[in-house]
Amino acid sequence: MGFTMAIDGPAGAGKSTIARLAGEKLGLIYIDTGAMYRAVACYFVENNINPDDCEEVKKACDSIVITIDYCDGVQQVLLNGRNVTPLLRGEATGKMASRVAKLGDVRTKLVSLQRDMAGKERIIMDGRDIGTCVFPDADIKIYLTASSAVRAKRRYDELVSKGQECNIEEIERDIINRDYEDMNREISPLRQADDAICVDTSDMGIDEVVNTLIKIYEEKNI
Ligand code: DC
Repeated sequence: MGFTMAIDGPAGAGKSTIARLAGEKLGLIYIDTGAMYRAVACYFVENNINPDDCEEVKKACDSIVITIDYCDGVQQVLLNGRNVTPLLRGEATGKMASRVAKLGDVRTKLVSLQRDMAGKERIIMDGRDIGTCVFPDADIKIYLTASSAVRAKRRYDELVSKGQECNIEEIERDIINRDYEDMNREISPLRQADDAICVDTSDMGIDEVVNTLIKIYEEKNI
């Protein structure tokens, strides 16, 4: 029987880490929808598509085929048959992703793909609109969040551990701006679904958050 656990929340709340780990423990297929928006962004960057030009956007949407595959349990995103997974986390792709995520044509295409992927599978899917738009009838909805200061600190630690120079105030400003963009866009803005359980991870470690999700799942008894 199909089963859907929807995880939504702002950038940097740890959605992908938590959803991947909880998915492994619960035997659910993890689907990262942010990576799909990033793959579309990759096409826009590589082909110099202007997201403000409706005609170009329509043409691009007709030419893009996104497929999801798994390699050792890790999601791979194919853009017109090419594995673009290693390119998705780059700065330019991330910036373009937040622009393409505002476009109706792009959202319609990706939401339909996301719904098709669920079918009879048991999945855990993360994004910004999973509980509100993609699966309004999801079996479990989680809104995963944390204060902007905590999210900035986590991102700062991640960058420092990779040897990158960065400024924590700047990172927090970026996070606040991204929250504003995500929550105030016209189509499918980020918000907590009325029937979602809010998990604030500001004072929680990864294991604690994963265990909280497992407990919620077990209590549902599905
Ligand atoms: O979670 P992320 O940073 O990989 O997401 C990339 C962009 O896509 C980000 O700007 C938010 C957007 N997004 C969205 O609008 N809806 C989703 N379901 C997933 C991501």
